[in-house]
Amino acid sequence: MTAQLIDGNALSRQLRADVARRAAALKARGVTPGLAVVLVGDNPASQVYVRNKVRACEDSGLHSVLEKYDADLSEADLLARVEALNDDPAIHGILVQLPLPRHIDAQKVIEAISPAKDVDGFHVASAGALVTGTPGFWPCTPYGCIRMLESIGYDLRGKHAVVIGRSNIVGKPMALMLLQKNATVTVTHSATPDLAHFTRDADVVVAAVGKRNVLTADMVKPGAVVIDVGMNRDDEGKLCGDVDFEGVKEVAGWITPVPGGVGPMTITMLLVNTLEAAERS
Ligand code: GUN
Repeated sequence: MTAQLIDGNALSRQLRADVARRAAALKARGVTPGLAVVLVGDNPASQVYVRNKVRACEDSGLHSVLEKYDADLSEADLLARVEALNDDPAIHGILVQLPLPRHIDAQKVIEAISPAKDVDGFHVASAGALVTGTPGFWPCTPYGCIRMLESIGYDLRGKHAVVIGRSNIVGKPMALMLLQKNATVTVTHSATPDLAHFTRDADVVVAAVGKRNVLTADMVKPGAVVIDVGMNRDDEGKLCGDVDFEGVKEVAGWITPVPGGVGPMTITMLLVNTLEAAERS
């Protein structure tokens, strides 16, 4: 069997067109959705990420401000900037790019963001809303994975979903979202002794550990849906995911490629969250 591709670029285009339409409707009522992106220091990967986020905002008709600070910015000064953005009526979403320099307590900064503007979904209030199934912002990467499953009309009710990885940004929120969609969820991680035992029984596998070839063809049930959140480099320096794509695509029913899968969906869901923050304001 050859799996069907879930195309994150195509789905992103559709969703971003919808964001642009809704942003235009809000603008006609005098509200331009606004995102503030805060970058501290000169981490090269972070610089690329924030540039892409700001450009995506512009392309969808959202207002965005990029605030760049030197790596020696004090924690107190950063907290003061976050407070000012909390009070700024032109800003509906605030994103502080991680990682932050070591002298700054990242969790403290995240908790300083107003939950109403927490479009990253990293605040404890957002995490609590996800746990309890109450309204709040969902973290962009796992939210994008859910949208990809919805795009193929996949009904998660009663299905066995296996999440590989337990990070606060992907694995844990992913498991909670799948649970909310009525899947039976298993969370596996570095201390799981026999990963294949779980993945072979899975109807859906989400791989989110940041390590190549974590999931190989022999570990996948025929017809399963495989979502690859990984962003790694292979021996030739080419971008690759956590899944052995060439092998697994011969067994799975559906699979997301890397690049062109979950990656573009992360920024798309940031736009969706920012738009929704503006609609709620
Ligand atoms: N660093 C890498 N990914 C992310 C993200 O999604 N949000 C923030 N704030 N920082 C990141």
